[in-house]
Amino acid sequence: MGRRCSWRRRALVAAGLGAVLLLLCALRPAFENTALGSIWLRGEKKSPLQLLYDLDQGPLSALAEVHRQRRDLLRRACSRHTRRQRLLQPEDLRHVLVDDAHGLLYCYVPKVACTNWKRVLLVLSGRARGDPRAIPAHEAHAPGRLRSLADFSPSEVNRRLRAYLAVLFVREPFERLASAYRNKLARPYSATFQRRYGARIVRRLRPGAQPEALTRGHDVRFAEFLAYLLDPRTRRDEPFNEHWERAHALCHPCRLRYDIVGKFETLAEDAAFVLGLVGAPDLRFPAPPRPRAVPARDLAARLFQDISPFYQRRLFDLYKMDFLLFNYSAPSYLRLR
Ligand SMILES: *[C@@H]1O[C@H](CO)[C@@H](O)[C@H](O)[C@H]1NC(C)=O
Repeated sequence: MGRRCSWRRRALVAAGLGAVLLLLCALRPAFENTALGSIWLRGEKKSPLQLLYDLDQGPLSALAEVHRQRRDLLRRACSRHTRRQRLLQPEDLRHVLVDDAHGLLYCYVPKVACTNWKRVLLVLSGRARGDPRAIPAHEAHAPGRLRSLADFSPSEVNRRLRAYLAVLFVREPFERLASAYRNKLARPYSATFQRRYGARIVRRLRPGAQPEALTRGHDVRFAEFLAYLLDPRTRRDEPFNEHWERAHALCHPCRLRYDIVGKFETLAEDAAFVLGLVGAPDLRFPAPPRPRAVPARDLAARLFQDISPFYQRRLFDLYKMDFLLFNYSAPSYLRLR
């Protein structure tokens, strides 16, 4: 497929989203994007998105080929597994962070190195200087430090969706879940978070709970956490907390077009690939902290051991779209039949 065609297809996808998002925005002609270079820094420099599509035209490096395949797989999985979906609202774009200086959109999924990505984005967008590692986590997460697509008017959203390189990072869903359980409930960084969700889980799911557990929520078992996730009341009251919400529900990969599907499992290479396209190859993506005593993969296997096949199946169903869209296979420790 020629370059013009890719651009045209992208423009059509964006136009489709525009119609969904806005309903009123007049559709722009598909050829508008051929003039993108002049919009982008007045043609002085190629945008990361143009660089990616240039790469796609030539002989692909191994890494570029991996990313092309992931993109294709996502697109195929979307057309196979999604039905008519509700309209996207601006609020749905809250997780898509914007770097106007480089033409980058990054959808953050908690428990997938998102603190480090936010640090990098702060540096890229000029809101912080120096080494991203030096930025304290609470600053990286401070509300309003980084702008999200939800902060823009529909026409500004559409312009960015058309012209910017859109990236998301995902992770094996149950590893992510195990990591969220460990970090947020079992051995939390924040007692406040633990109290808020832990106490709620105990109150709802543990008959005859001790008063201490009811106020502190400090001893939620994995099975109770899963029961909470599967309890229909949970999502009736409010959406899942972002730490356990499915990546597809945070980033809408079948509605928005992502150019790069990064994976936690290959974080360093994928991050370097993105930073290369963005024109910041010297910016080092922070290395993960020292390895954990129990890696999340083993933790997930261990935690799921005590869960009945019935619950395992239901939980797999709950997270199935993340497995399918991002090409993760069902973990071998599950007893699905
Ligand atoms: C999907 O996963 C399989 C099995 O791990 C792997 O062989 C294949 O290359 C992956 N495909 C893509 C597009 O990532």
